[in-house]
Amino acid sequence: MNNGQQIIRTIQEKERGMLSFFEAEKDIPFSIKRVYYISGTPAETIRGKHAHKTLKQFLFCPFGEILVFLDDGIREWEVLLDAPNQGLFVTEEIWHEMHWKSDGAILCVVASDYYDETDYIRDYQDFLKYVKEKKDGNCR
Ligand code: TYD
Repeated sequence: MNNGQQIIRTIQEKERGMLSFFEAEKDIPFSIKRVYYISGTPAETIRGKHAHKTLKQFLFCPFGEILVFLDDGIREWEVLLDAPNQGLFVTEEIWHEMHWKSDGAILCVVASDYYDETDYIRDYQDFLKYVKEKKDGNCR
């Protein structure tokens, strides 16, 4: 099962720390148009709670722990981001919620497109309806 988890290439040196990297269109299967990050977030905070119609994103947490809940309308799964070499693809049409497990954990995101509010689905029932309609349309 592909749950979106992806190891980020990392060079670890004994005393100088870890250097992690990825390259657009090589490690990440899209060209990166936007980078954003969330900081200063207390533990127990929940963010996200939406899906995107077309946007593809790659999430990583270089500091702290964030538990991501994902739902494609059929199955639900979760991925813990708790190390700088852990990444997670959240493709289009996936409901996602990020739960902060440690104070100040940093969520970094690279995205396939510019910010566009019309690409969001912010209501869970609308999301289920959207994916069902897409699926039924594809079956015809
Ligand atoms: P949102 O994506 O809803 O984040 P969260 O689900 O974590 O709350 O974004 C929060 C606000 O920030 C919303 O008003 C849109 C704005 N925003 C931008 O203007 N540009 C961006 O690239 C992002 C990700 C959000």
